Amino acid sequence: MSDFRRSVGYQIYPKSFCDSKGDGRGDLKGVTSKLDYIKELGVDYIWLTPFFVSPQNDNGYDVEDYYNIDPRYGTMEDFEELAAEAGKRGIRLMLDMVFNHTSSRHEWFKKAMEGDEKYKNYYIFRKGKAPGVPPTNWESKFGGGVWEYVEKFDEYYLHLFDVTQPDLNWDNEEVRKELQKVIRFWMGKGVKGFRFDVVNLISKSVYEDDYEGDGRRFYTDGPNIHRYLRELNAATFGTDTEIITVGEMSSTSMENCYQYGNGDGKELSMVFSFHHLKVDFMGNEKWVLVPADFQKLKNILFSWQKGMQEHDAWNAVFWCNHDQPRVVSRFGNEGRYWKASAKMLAATIHLLRGMPYIYQGEELGMTNAGFTDISQYRDVESLNHFRILQDKGLTEADAYRILQVHSRDNSRTPMQWTAGKNGGFTNGEPWIEVNKNCDRINAEAELADPDSISIFTGN
Ligand code: GLC
Repeated sequence: MSDFRRSVGYQIYPKSFCDSKGDGRGDLKGVTSKLDYIKELGVDYIWLTPFFVSPQNDNGYDVEDYYNIDPRYGTMEDFEELAAEAGKRGIRLMLDMVFNHTSSRHEWFKKAMEGDEKYKNYYIFRKGKAPGVPPTNWESKFGGGVWEYVEKFDEYYLHLFDVTQPDLNWDNEEVRKELQKVIRFWMGKGVKGFRFDVVNLISKSVYEDDYEGDGRRFYTDGPNIHRYLRELNAATFGTDTEIITVGEMSSTSMENCYQYGNGDGKELSMVFSFHHLKVDFMGNEKWVLVPADFQKLKNILFSWQKGMQEHDAWNAVFWCNHDQPRVVSRFGNEGRYWKASAKMLAATIHLLRGMPYIYQGEELGMTNAGFTDISQYRDVESLNHFRILQDKGLTEADAYRILQVHSRDNSRTPMQWTAGKNGGFTNGEPWIEVNKNCDRINAEAELADPDSISIFTGN
């Protein structure tokens, strides 16, 4: 059994980590070049967000080919080198498996759109309720509806996320077998960890209009979810006791997480839940400005700690990832108490029961992007909501204020390595702007600071 219950994870968003080629985007070789730094942080596992072939409409969470590396990130040799070099340093890699949906450019979806019944059944096609009326009124996580009309079939396909991310039909056993093959392929490459993207959304059941919410109650923690996870486990990673897994559980319930992350190891090793990161939302609505409710934050952390412990289930504990704003800006202080609050927040997650995950730059106290113009934003979700907010009647200035607080691009600005050009991230033109405060907040400065936020193992 892996001793993951004593391990620390470090999340890398390769596109924004380190660019070895000078094309403005980070890549796998860039990650390899920084392994000594990561080792110094005392990291056991690196979670790499997707680097598979993808049109990058959702920065790799739209996978076109699960078996190959997107040339933008490098080659299979680069991956093997990274895995070998990490292994030499006692660090293991966790890959990000996006199995709720594929890219619309995946060959399965292309065949489906050609009318091939076998592949249409890999996805979720449904008739509308009436001419021009989609099967349900659910809202996409990225704004707009979840159904895309396909005229030649007079049917709609489901996409909980972007229109270019059609949902897979997990009720089809062939789909489940295909996805098992993907895991076995990467296990063959020596991979010892997997993160499963929005995996509690894979079991859909009822297709009904939702008059109380955005539809999520009909597809979250669905009826066959535990059966599908157990099956995946038994057929793939469950056969290797060294492999660890974490599921991203969107809007989940604690009761379900007792099973997902149970110590019996039949489903996953641990879970990411997000309730503690909605304390500055209005219910589930994130595109609003609401002060963080710290009492609620404390209560949520406490009840999850207690509940999961009582049921021998394991949390992944975290503040930051590539979908969340920077925590020091969010729950801490960017000004006078910048360092103290970054330390306090770091101490909190390291002292909770669960596996801590640090997101690149969090160890430096990196802050929100500070963007002031829509041309600086890249994320499909932010771009959509900038428009939706104004369609709802908000002024442009208000829409900006909300984006500045909640946009996922806040965490996607490049890693700040030095005070030099582009924060030492690239010699080229960065795909997204580097935060201006890289002159002050950067890894070089942090390593030289005897009172640094992080404790480096060499110190
Ligand atoms: C997860 C990912 C996010 C992505 C979404 C759709 O929430 O973390 O980045 O956009 O799933 O795959």
